[in-house]
Amino acid sequence: MQILEATGPRSLANFASCWLCALAHLLITGGAGFIGSHTALVLLEAGHSLVVLDNFSNSSPESLRRVAELAGLSDASRLTVVEGDIRSAADLDRAFNAGARPALAPKSIEGVIHFAGLKAVGESVQEPLRYWDVNVGGSRSLVEAMRRHGCRRLVFSSSATLYGYPEAGPIPETAPVQPINPYGHSKAAAEQLLADVAGSEPGWHIARLRYFNPVGAHPSGRIGEDPGGTPNNLFPFISQVAVGRRPQLQVFGGDWPTADGTGVRDYIHVMDLAEGHRAAIDRLLSHAPELLTLNLGSGQGHSVLELVRAFEQASGCSVPTAIGARREGDAASTVADPSRAATVLGWRTRRSLAEICRDGWAWQRANPQGYGSPTSA
Ligand code: NAD
Ligand code: UFG
Repeated sequence: MQILEATGPRSLANFASCWLCALAHLLITGGAGFIGSHTALVLLEAGHSLVVLDNFSNSSPESLRRVAELAGLSDASRLTVVEGDIRSAADLDRAFNAGARPALAPKSIEGVIHFAGLKAVGESVQEPLRYWDVNVGGSRSLVEAMRRHGCRRLVFSSSATLYGYPEAGPIPETAPVQPINPYGHSKAAAEQLLADVAGSEPGWHIARLRYFNPVGAHPSGRIGEDPGGTPNNLFPFISQVAVGRRPQLQVFGGDWPTADGTGVRDYIHVMDLAEGHRAAIDRLLSHAPELLTLNLGSGQGHSVLELVRAFEQASGCSVPTAIGARREGDAASTVADPSRAATVLGWRTRRSLAEICRDGWAWQRANPQGYGSPTSA
């Protein structure tokens, strides 16, 4: 792995060759983050070569060092990391021009997976301009850079948050897009931007992937989710209670119209999600231009208390809970209809809730303070 810092190279490139030139040369924005790092690993294991562009505003380069280690990369040939911002044309150009391409078949970036963005709902209410700037402005800058560099294949990280308060039952992609917070608005606007671009000139291959609730970690426990500060989301909060960093979980409402009164979500193992991205980019690389919109979820709903019990079982630790008030903006139940992704990509989730908890616990136990942990090296 080589890291190109904003100011220059940290280590010199070793452009060793990749003989499997049918494999693609891809740009991953936000590839050091939770979903990006797991996807980078899956893509490297599939033989692709990657340039990661990340400003490390919510991640650490350590995640990518571990990705390189897990992928068994013995040199810098297939992973180049560019420290930079998706809102900067110069940083994007550096990424498009960076190494990691097969030496015997030099070619430019053939596809982009765009993870970089901000994702905290509460923060988006406080700082909407930042969300529009990074999530919408950053996507616009990226698309402009793609046009400059002749690349028209893009997988975009969208979110089930677009569905707002959905009707009961599994949610198909045809459900109304009606976001209820600035984060959701920014994702809806970026989706629309991509549809407008695809409609304005021929040749774009775009997949807008709407994730449900990504959780868990790589089974090695070497990479996982590392939220800064108090976690906003249920799974990392439960993990931190189990490992002793927090005393108890506050359950946001015990009076929802669900079987046990707690909120129901569609939890998807991050490795299943990563494999969904591989299926999506493979599809874009091999099919005619198209604009896809796909839910990535399991189709199974689990309540807060079910997840707590599954985590206790996997970890052998107790997770004390207290039922509190509902959180503003929450829906009772959000579960995907993932059938379109199965038809179009031939992809479906394979991992159970028990595996999600086992792997999430492997990460949390080995890295109690995330990538900053003194015991995590
Ligand atoms: P993450 O915060 O772990 O990863 C995002 C990465 O983007 C981080 O490495 C961060 O440093 C980087 N980044 C942020 N702003 C940047 C910028 N201006 N320039 C360059 N890099 C920048 O988040 P994640 O959970 O991996 O999510 C990835 C994507 O998936 C996001 O777009 C998010 O909105 C979307 N998504 C996440 C979830 C979820 O629950 N995790 C659900 C639905 C959609
Ligand atoms: N919950 C608690 N206590 C907590 C945290 C959450 O009881 O401390 C409950 C919530 O009320 C909800 C469930 O756990 O019923 C899941 O909540 P999360 O915050 O983990 O996830 P959300 O479904 O609310 O939202 C997440 C992301 C969104 C994204 C959405 C769909 O935060 O950005 O999944 O992908 F859009």
